Amino acid sequence: MAFSEKFLDELVDRNDIVDVVSGYVRLSKRSGANQFGLCPFHSEKTPSFSVNAEKQIYHCFGCGKGGGVINFIMDIENLGYRDAVAFLARRAGMTMPEEQSDGESKKRARMLSLNKDAARFFYEQLSTSEGRRAGEYMAKRRISPATAKNFGLGYAPDTWDSLEKAMRAKGYSDFELLDAGLVRRGKSGGFYDTFRNRLMFPVIDVRGNVIGFSGRILGDGEPKYMNSPETLVFNKSRNLFALNLAKKSKSGYIILSEGNIDVVSLHQAGFDSAVASLGTSLTPEQARLLSRYTNQVIIAYDNDGAGLKASQRAIGILEKLDVKVKVLRMTGAKDPDEFIKAKGPDAFRMLLEGSEDQVDYRLRTVTEKYDLSIDEQKVEFLKEATELVAHLPGAVERQVYAMRVAALAGLGADVVTQEVERRHKRLVRRAYREEERQQSRPERQAQPVEKELRYDDPVSATAEEGVIRLLYLDPELARRCSLPAAEDFTAPALQHIYSALRGRLDRGEAVSTAGLGEALSGPEMSLLVGILQKPEQLSRSEGTLQDYIKIIQEQKELREQKNAPPDFQAIIKLQREKGKRYEGNG
Ligand code: GTP
Ligand code: MN
Repeated sequence: MAFSEKFLDELVDRNDIVDVVSGYVRLSKRSGANQFGLCPFHSEKTPSFSVNAEKQIYHCFGCGKGGGVINFIMDIENLGYRDAVAFLARRAGMTMPEEQSDGESKKRARMLSLNKDAARFFYEQLSTSEGRRAGEYMAKRRISPATAKNFGLGYAPDTWDSLEKAMRAKGYSDFELLDAGLVRRGKSGGFYDTFRNRLMFPVIDVRGNVIGFSGRILGDGEPKYMNSPETLVFNKSRNLFALNLAKKSKSGYIILSEGNIDVVSLHQAGFDSAVASLGTSLTPEQARLLSRYTNQVIIAYDNDGAGLKASQRAIGILEKLDVKVKVLRMTGAKDPDEFIKAKGPDAFRMLLEGSEDQVDYRLRTVTEKYDLSIDEQKVEFLKEATELVAHLPGAVERQVYAMRVAALAGLGADVVTQEVERRHKRLVRRAYREEERQQSRPERQAQPVEKELRYDDPVSATAEEGVIRLLYLDPELARRCSLPAAEDFTAPALQHIYSALRGRLDRGEAVSTAGLGEALSGPEMSLLVGILQKPEQLSRSEGTLQDYIKIIQEQKELREQKNAPPDFQAIIKLQREKGKRYEGNG
């Protein structure tokens, strides 16, 4: 649930950013509306952290962090958006909206408490005589009691109403159980437990709420898993199993696997950053959620066709968010669980360290896309593969991969190497020209401080920034002018900021850091505030907007102009003719 604008406005009004920040940072120097202090987010000796009382924002010129008062609390107290809002509400003596008797939020709270009670019930069943069956199953899968406890695993008894009775005794109604997906309605109108004779995995969100369940059959049988339906509190595509645990990991990456059992097994073996998407392939929302906690994801999907396909989709989604992706290549096991059991945690760690990087993986993917026994497809393959290799910065690396491509296509290494180098030179020339152009326009050098947000096309990105700044400062423009399409934005972070901004404008909502706070990640918010700090002439904003749009269009056309592709068709034909002649002679 989003907070109402009225509530957020009041919250920001009552929590003056200078007051709030002063609780953490000694602000001393001042110039104009800005006060300066030592940045609490990076270590420094001269103050580059500024707070602007007029705009109610903070911005560090050193590390680039910035935002409104809510973002400041998120950063400094290490809280999520909602919790930061609650923190500030408490500070200002305001009541959180859901504490007011708002029907839906009351229902949510009830459902969460029901889920928690149900999880406790399932867990307790493990120590009953009937629950021994689940214990035996876990033993068979080598899940230790400590692991079961860590995940809050449990057992749903093999009866029609154990849970229903237990929850009724706690004061929940059948209809509440029905809404939570814990019971179903029979033909005769009665209710029966949804989960029966299953090993239960509670799904817990990053705030620690039990939002749903996944139940695995004990042994073989269909369906293998049953999941809670979508409810008021459970949205499969927006949550990941075990992210509540993985977000605390110090490993620096998150392991994305398919199965609940894989995740449990990985954590037990010491890989505490494993998560699973909830029986779907990774969704953009899940990817965004992941990107809040890590900038590197290692995909450890099942070792089969479906797993491969799912990996490719996941890579596409994650790369858009500037998350580094590696793909684990397991051999001799169908999934991480089996691998660890067969070869042990050390072998898995080695696998992680050597996990196939994107070049190997991409090359393999390109190879699998084409049937290399057909000439036309071989030509397409060569185009795509040489371009891929040409992007590698190291000469040796390029040589190695060029040879591999040659071998795959059955061509001489020289031809392919030459083509790779030709393409590489072209890329270097292009990058060089780009750099020259930027140096001749110093105002366009700006790159975001956050490395992950670096712009591929800084010229376009600068114009994209301009569009965002204008719209933020002069929202009326949205009504007066036609705006560029979000797809034309080259920088993913800017594209996301722009979409969020337009979303608010389209819904007639005011733009503010508070309002955008829920939609934007920390680095994105910092980027936005950085953008707002740059000067802008609002007096002729319409004309400026047109200029920015023109630059974005021009850059787009420039990128689309590529050199003519090499004539691989002719090379292959030539080779074949040579071969034929050879045969003919012999
Ligand atoms: P094991 O076979 O015991 O290793 O199970 P697993 O947890 O590794 O699951 P598996 O790799 O078979 O499936 C991956 C995920 O897909 C599971 O964790 C479930 O979320 C989901 N899933 C699997 N089977 C079913 C099913 O029959 N129904 C539904 N709704 N989801 C399923
Ligand atoms: Mn599995």
